[in-house]
Amino acid sequence: MNNHPTKTIPVKNTVKDCIIIDIPTIKDHRGNLAVIENGILPFKMQRVYYIFNIPAGAYRGAHAHKHETGFMIAISGSFKVLLDDGIQKKEVLLNRPDKGLLIPTGIWREIKDFSQGSVCLVVNSSPYNEADYIRDYDEFLTYFKK
Ligand code: TYD
Repeated sequence: MNNHPTKTIPVKNTVKDCIIIDIPTIKDHRGNLAVIENGILPFKMQRVYYIFNIPAGAYRGAHAHKHETGFMIAISGSFKVLLDDGIQKKEVLLNRPDKGLLIPTGIWREIKDFSQGSVCLVVNSSPYNEADYIRDYDEFLTYFKK
């Protein structure tokens, strides 16, 4: 995965770069404890957000990032992530709190089919910056020259 885009040459990751990463988990009779530390991800963490209280039928995402990389986890419950690099699409079911999905820069994502009570947590490579978002699909294709 190339995680160092420039302004003039957008990085062209593909859905094959969207990999599942195991989160190291300590298990004992009291339960499981999963730890996300810098080192298990191919980027330095700068922000975490999570989505909860998600109503039935909710549809989220529908954007790509120019530079940011994210790592998405179904901390509770399950949901589906549609990944699209402008040429190929891939759908991933996230349903385990000890595995996450790496979503590198330049990948269009949509999130749907949230189970009741599900929580979607995302670890990010940068602070929130609306200017890094592409929320229009045609603009996404143009920006990454698909
Ligand atoms: P949005 O990008 O629409 O969520 P999703 O793509 O997961 O469906 O974000 C919803 C709102 O929250 C939007 O107004 C931007 C804001 N927001 C922040 O202020 N900070 C953040 O870190 C994130 C992820 C979103």
